Amino acid sequence: MESVETRINIIGPALRVLLREGDKLPLVRWQSDSVADAVTLDLSEDILDGLKLAMGDQPTSKAVTIDGIGTFVAEQVTWSGRLAGKVAFVTGAAQGFGAGIAEGLAREGALVAVADMNHAGAQATAARINEAIGAERCVGLAVNVTDGDSVASAIHSTVKAFGGIDIVMSNAGVLKAGSVKTQSESDFEFVTRVNYMGYFIVVKYAAPVMAISHALDPDVWTDIIQINSKSGLEGSNKNGAYAGSKFGGIGLTQSFALELISDGIKVNSICPGNFFDGPLWSDPENGLFAQYLRAGKVPGAKTTDDVKHFYEAKVPMGRGCTVPDVLRAIYYLVEQLYETGQALPVTGGQVMLN
Ligand SMILES: NC(=O)c1ccc[n+]([C@@H]2O[C@H](COP(=O)([O-])OP(=O)(O)OC[C@H]3O[C@@H](n4cnc5c(N)ncnc54)[C@H](O)[C@@H]3O)[C@@H](O)[C@H]2O)c1
Repeated sequence: MESVETRINIIGPALRVLLREGDKLPLVRWQSDSVADAVTLDLSEDILDGLKLAMGDQPTSKAVTIDGIGTFVAEQVTWSGRLAGKVAFVTGAAQGFGAGIAEGLAREGALVAVADMNHAGAQATAARINEAIGAERCVGLAVNVTDGDSVASAIHSTVKAFGGIDIVMSNAGVLKAGSVKTQSESDFEFVTRVNYMGYFIVVKYAAPVMAISHALDPDVWTDIIQINSKSGLEGSNKNGAYAGSKFGGIGLTQSFALELISDGIKVNSICPGNFFDGPLWSDPENGLFAQYLRAGKVPGAKTTDDVKHFYEAKVPMGRGCTVPDVLRAIYYLVEQLYETGQALPVTGGQVMLN
């Protein structure tokens, strides 16, 4: 028989479908203690069949206690927003694009697991978003996307908090630029492990949870969205580790899309242009503008603003990519029910597809 963790990962998403009252899936919270009026079930070997049979007699239950597993409490979604009640798992969400994406999704009504290797940062970001929107929509979780056990544990915590996962944002990423002639193998491997292998590990542990809702109701579709880069669409000088990891990510997206379509999971990448306002570029000490100024990389530049203008001028639309630009692409991919396996550029015209 499956472990208790695996059973919770199956029962939570299944109950979201079985306890649904309207068109939106409810929020389902797991807790160890029972609650008053909970229906008590004793499940046999086949969890899904057992649940379907048992819940057929209990269509209006609000809470279900399962012997040896715990209690699942359902809350119907009464709030509005274009993602109302959808559960999102966002990696690398303590700062940068990830934090902005988490906030945008929560503002549109999603329940968001703000997951990051920087656990304190993830918790602080979750608390800040909850306060800003005046609702408990986010939880902050620790995750290291290069470690399968850590990812499995964060996915499980998300299921316990919200009942399942509808949107995975594989956003955690790192950059170490360097010439192929001098870059250390350990730097190359570090970038590859986070950006390329980390994406595989996140999908590996999230997909089985996401597949359950579609297995019970073929009209339920879910989304895996990788935050890729314009460097996944064209090479990047002295930045091969990063560009290679991002090109590889698009290969994974296309392959996962083909495989997971039968589980009702769409898989796409978003390829943003440079996010000049984020910490990677704008951190006053270690940001790329400060680094490039110190290194004299932009001829004639005297300030970080000069460096910024130099890079903005490379973009046909004359500015960097912003969080709202990326959010629009996410809403498109989630709402579009006739596309999968794509790499969607959001580059202000800097990279155009053939
Ligand atoms: N900044 C840009 O200009 C830009 C442009 C295009 C694409 N991107 C992509 O957007 C994504 C986010 O970039 P950003 O600029 O916001 O980065 P950032 O450095 O501001 O934030 C990245 C976050 O990921 C976390 N992280 C790093 N390694 C991790 C791991 N192993 N497990 C879990 N979390 C980890 C960090 O703690 C950090 O909070 C990346 O995939 C990046 O490649 C960035």
